[in-house]
Order: sequence, then C-alpha cells, then structure tokens
Amino acid sequence: MALKNFWYVADLSSAIINKPKRINLLGRDFVLYRNTKGQVAALSNWCVHRGGSLSHGWVEDDCLRCPYHGWKYRADGVCIEIPANRAGAPIAKRARVKTYPVQEKYGWIWLFLGDLPTAERPPHPPLPEFDKPDWRVIYGEFLWDAPYTRVVENAIDIAHTPFVHATSFGNRDEPQVENYDMHLAAWSGSASVMLKPRRSKGLWRYIHRKDSPGVKTTATFFMPNVTRLEVDLGNGAQMIIFGSHKPIDDYTTLTQWIQLRNFFTHPWFDGDAKRRTLKIFREDQKVVETLNPNRALHPLATEFHVRSDALAIAYRKLNQQCLNRGWGINQPLNNSVDSSRRTISMPNSDQSKASELTKV
Ligand code: FES
Ligand SMILES: [Fe+2]
Repeated sequence: MALKNFWYVADLSSAIINKPKRINLLGRDFVLYRNTKGQVAALSNWCVHRGGSLSHGWVEDDCLRCPYHGWKYRADGVCIEIPANRAGAPIAKRARVKTYPVQEKYGWIWLFLGDLPTAERPPHPPLPEFDKPDWRVIYGEFLWDAPYTRVVENAIDIAHTPFVHATSFGNRDEPQVENYDMHLAAWSGSASVMLKPRRSKGLWRYIHRKDSPGVKTTATFFMPNVTRLEVDLGNGAQMIIFGSHKPIDDYTTLTQWIQLRNFFTHPWFDGDAKRRTLKIFREDQKVVETLNPNRALHPLATEFHVRSDALAIAYRKLNQQCLNRGWGINQPLNNSVDSSRRTISMPNSDQSKASELTKV
C-alpha cells in the first residue's frame, strides 16, 4: 500500500518548462508547468468541468487553459475565466482544481502528496554532496515491472550482490555479510558493511585497486521510496547512487536516479558511469521482476528473515508505523483516467470539492 504525507519526486527540473506536462504518480495524473518567474505549479490534470486533460491545454498569462471549453485556471487552481459565460459573470468558488506543494531540490521537482501542515511534513532526504563542487552528477531513469517496495528493498539489500551481480562486481567467493549496526532515524535507516567485490573492470580499475582491503558500502533508505547507496572504492574515491523509486501504479515503478562520483569528474567519463549504473539495474531487474508475490509489501510474518535482512526489516517496520498513523492509500493505484479522479483522501484539500463537481 502506497503512503501519503511524503514528498515525491515528480520529474527533472529541466523537464518542466512553460508548457504543461502530465506526470503519473501514485496512480494519479498531475499537470506541471513553469511560470514566467520560474516557479513550478502542480495541479490535478483533470478539469472540473468535463474532465478535460489540462496537460493537453496550454499556458497563458501564467495560467492553464483547458483545451476543451477554454476554462482558465490560475496556478493556485482557481478558475478565473469561463469563456462560455457572459463577461463579468461570477464564477463559483468550487470551480477549481486541486493543487500540490512543490519544491525543487537536487535538480528534481518534488510534490507533497498528503494532508499534513507544512511544519509536520517529513523532510526531503538529504544529499549534501549534491552542492559540493568536487562531485560530478549525472541523471537517469529505469522502469520496473514491479511494486516500488520491492525495488526499494532490492536497493538496500546487501546479501544479493554476489548472486545477482556475479557478472559485474559481485563475488560468489565472498557471500557472507558481516554483522552490521544500523543507524535509525525518524524517517530513515542506514547500514555500512565491508564488501569484497571483484575488482572493477575498465577505467575504474585505476580507482579500485587490486590491493584494496575491501569496499565500504553504505545502504540507506528514506521513507517511503528513496534510497542511497554509497560505495567507497578506496583512497577517498566514492560513488553514490541516490534513487527515487516512484510508484506509477501498484505494479510499475520508475526509478529516477542521480549518480554522484568524486573521481573521474570530467564529463568525458559520464557515458561510462551511466552504463555501469544501468548494467547494475538490469541485473537487478531480472530478479526483482520475477519475485513472488510481486504486488505489495508483505507483512513481516509472511516471509522468512535472516540477520542480513535487518535493514529491510527496519524499512518494513517504519512502513507499518506509517500505516498505523493512517497514511496508507487504501485504493489500488490504478493509473486510469477514472481512478485518477478519485481522491487521495487529503482532508484539508479541495479535492473533495473537485470530485463533487466531476460527478455532476
Ligand atoms: S472540460 Fe475543461 S473547460 Fe470544459
Ligand atoms: Fe543489486
């Protein structure tokens, strides 16, 4: 079950310009655009009049124009013009679409989906290296035919490396996972282990040396769908994969990832770095998409756990705590037009009003 009351990555900052763009997230459809001041607005994609798709409309005077009958919506969702009405006729307050808080961070656009007041919202996951000049940053995406919880758990799973990544860095001769301590915080969990992967191939051989005592690897999850994998290749060379695993619907996940490295920082090395990251995802994909059951995060009792699964268990426990707070989204995340009009149950939003109007 997906969770509300978190910030979710919607898209790359660079992908949102002064043209409306439709975004699928949590089984809903949103429309995003950038106004002339550079601010991003996020609204429900569906016009409250007859369900026009606002992302098929256009931006006009920093407002959104519906392509069907031309209703004009401000960035705060209020309809300020109904062309078919006589000029100056009053517009009902209920003629508005739901809007969502937006922030831009790490080159991504984040939407807050939920009903918590600003001060109570869980923060964005931190990524302090992003603003440091000695780190090179690249972006990418990867689509999974799997629920986001399985993708998150895979990203923080340490014991699968020798098996799933045997043809890249995984080392079948060193499958044991040492006892690790976890660092748990309100919305995150982290663990570091020393791995003994096979020596890197290609250019990275010069970083990851033969005499390396091991590779310190730190896996972190941030509720509900962000992970960070930090790999210390030795001599201060570090690589980080920071991933937001976006639930498109109950069965589909889009991982939007940032890879940061503090070695080979010239752009010339970006292609090689990207290929390495995608190779890892493709190796994971073969396993993650064939797990059973592969529909949702299952209660702790229904799968068998061992010591090396401690970080995943911490993730499941925090997930359960969120469900206990009533943050679960009960209905299926079915990304169809009809389901998109259903509410995510955000009481202090005006979505309920918008839904009433669509039923008229
Ligand atoms: S459906 Fe949008 S203006 Fe009629
Ligand atoms: Fe993996």
